[in-house]
Amino acid sequence: MKLITCCSFKGGAGKTTALMGLCSALAMEGKTIALFEADENRPLTRWKENAVTRNTWDSRCEVFTADDLPLLEKAYDEAEARKFDYALADTHGGSSELNNTIIASSNFLLVPTMLTPLDVDEALATYRYIIELLLSENLVIPTAILQQRVPIGRLTTSQRKVSDMLTALPLTKQPMFERDAFAAMKDRGMLHLSLRNARVDPGMRLMLRNLDAAMEDLRLLSRFMHEALGQ
Ligand SMILES: Nc1ncnc2c1ncn2[C@@H]1O[C@H](COP(=O)(O)OP(=O)(O)O)[C@@H](O)[C@H]1O
Ligand SMILES: [Mg+2]
Repeated sequence: MKLITCCSFKGGAGKTTALMGLCSALAMEGKTIALFEADENRPLTRWKENAVTRNTWDSRCEVFTADDLPLLEKAYDEAEARKFDYALADTHGGSSELNNTIIASSNFLLVPTMLTPLDVDEALATYRYIIELLLSENLVIPTAILQQRVPIGRLTTSQRKVSDMLTALPLTKQPMFERDAFAAMKDRGMLHLSLRNARVDPGMRLMLRNLDAAMEDLRLLSRFMHEALGQ
């Protein structure tokens, strides 16, 4: 089982959304996924509830509460024993013993950030924190910054500057764009299943292109992750 973690000091950086998206992409590939809910606000539990009512929850996925160390350990052991292909951990903002443990146990780390100077400052601080933690523990874990909520049209001068600055760091090949389809995932459930439902619902035909474009972002993100894991 490979543990993939989205982390950042900042709340609202797009961690949970990136994780939901990656979960969808992996489920579409037929993988089984344990979702570790390490944020006490329980966004993944709510996501699952919403998805189940809309028939957009993939039974290959299961949410495990993991918002303290004993629960995390229990979730990890159970997911390993049940041979899930992946565990995806959604962390809360900030640093904590729990986050440190999750980071140090991961096989791949994603640090999402929006393109504002403030957000990027926080992403850089998070990245530095991760690197220091890995050095102190003698660990090598592929880590990448994910540009999140990138406008689809032209970037402003400030966004461009910030984006240029990030190129000095390990970045995912593709950003996640700012899309309604992503913002709506928390209410609508898994994107690949929303897409499946939309294909057979004439009333949803107009949304198909948007859902398809969003799914394509996620396929590329998943491919990047597989490459980083040497898969
Ligand atoms: N790529 C995106 N496109 C549109 N909205 C997004 C995108 N990523 C995140 N959001 C929205 O931004 C807000 C914060 O995202 P969230 O994933 O909850 O951040 P975090 O988990 O880091 O606190 C949410 O309302 C979410 O729907
Ligand atoms: Mg979150």
